Amino acid sequence: MTSPVRVIVAGAGCRGELHSSYASIHPERMKVVAVADPRKFARTKLQKQHNIPDENMFEDWQSMLERDKFADAVLICTPDQLHKEPAVAFAKEGYHILLEKPMATTAEDCVAIVEACIQSGVMLSVGHVLRYDPLIRKIKELIDAGAIGDIIHIQHLEPVGYYHFAHSFVRGNWRNEAESSFALLAKSCHDIDLIHHWVGDRRCVKVSSFGSVSHFQKKHKPTGASDRCLDCPIEEKCPYSARKIYLNSVKRGHTGWPVSVICPSSSPDVESVTEALRTGPYGRCVYECDNDVCSNQIVNMEFAGGVTAAFSMVAFTEELCRRKTTIYGSKGELSYDGNEIRVFDFLTQRSETQRAIQHTVVGKANRTFSMAGHAAADYHLIHAFISAVANNDPSLIRSGPEETLLSHLLVFEAERSRLEGRVVYCEDRKPS
Ligand SMILES: NC(=O)c1ccc[n+]([C@@H]2O[C@H](COP(=O)([O-])OP(=O)(O)OC[C@H]3O[C@@H](n4cnc5c(N)ncnc54)[C@H](O)[C@@H]3O)[C@@H](O)[C@H]2O)c1
Repeated sequence: MTSPVRVIVAGAGCRGELHSSYASIHPERMKVVAVADPRKFARTKLQKQHNIPDENMFEDWQSMLERDKFADAVLICTPDQLHKEPAVAFAKEGYHILLEKPMATTAEDCVAIVEACIQSGVMLSVGHVLRYDPLIRKIKELIDAGAIGDIIHIQHLEPVGYYHFAHSFVRGNWRNEAESSFALLAKSCHDIDLIHHWVGDRRCVKVSSFGSVSHFQKKHKPTGASDRCLDCPIEEKCPYSARKIYLNSVKRGHTGWPVSVICPSSSPDVESVTEALRTGPYGRCVYECDNDVCSNQIVNMEFAGGVTAAFSMVAFTEELCRRKTTIYGSKGELSYDGNEIRVFDFLTQRSETQRAIQHTVVGKANRTFSMAGHAAADYHLIHAFISAVANNDPSLIRSGPEETLLSHLLVFEAERSRLEGRVVYCEDRKPS
């Protein structure tokens, strides 16, 4: 048996912990040998889960890098603004890299990361999890098999979810572009990447975009509302009340996301959540935050050969990130609702449906892990990366440097269109 792939983790937050959990499922395939995070709570949680020796615990990624190369790969799960420096530096040291999306917050930094990986001959996988979702992979297979003929038009919707948006993009880490990144990059780089992937080799020639911050602004604050939900006399009538989203949830025993991420230095319970809402960012009135990222944005794209695509991202939805897509082809129509794919054939006038298969993975000591939706995609992302490193086979990575760079550059061009109020004619974006 070959030895497990040794990984080090930069950023032990949500994503760092999630990717690391693969080592608990498959200890024979991956071992977490070091972790870096300035938050002691996050760092020690991972240390306990993976029995990491004290000498391999670091307060930041830079100190971890000072050590001579001591692992095969690094999982870079730091905040958006902290991707480029570690990615370039670890690439130069010869680490294979799983880099969370977005690759970086500027086009230049994305190019620099790809160049560093190519020059150092290391593998790069970007956290475009949806590419690993079995049903989404099926869509690509159906397109490539000619199930709907030539693609004519793609319509794709990302419903973010009203409380998810309030949590992440009004009160939370991705609310402010200067501190993280713009919404199309932070949230919808997945979607632009999928559209780009489905269209195939044709490059995007023109793009236009509109979008704005709606509703979550001071001018919409109801009369009589307080600056914090715990003191608000009209909180009961507010769908975005932090008391409802977090405190009532934890009182009902729910300690998973989003409750799990609001107490930076302890596990969530009624006491710690109350304290977080009293003093931290997640207790703020949604009309009194320093948010500036779009809550609704559309992107129209024209690809070579006249293929068109229309993308919408909207915060104000019941559904949470359950994408809806229709792909119109010359011979049929394919629709996807997050749970099933339906293909209607114009010639036979028949339709065929494929549903997501709920399955389990059998791991350590025959423990089974339920695999559905995002969980399945997350599992397949890290599984593919570890397999690629173990077998020295970059073809196992479905979100590698070149394609991911092209779709990221398209996101930057779409945002440029929105900011400049004009159609952007895309340059030839092939990486040099
Ligand atoms: N692929 C996806 O679907 C997906 C989903 C959510 C988030 N993300 C991305 O993953 C990244 C991490 O997101 P998250 O939700 O885990 O955030 P998080 O805030 O939970 O985790 C980030 C961690 O990085 C740590 N950190 C900060 N500075 C550091 C430094 N100098 N060295 C080491 N660690 C440092 C923080 O203390 C924190 O624990 C972000 O870029 C985010 O956009 C991707």
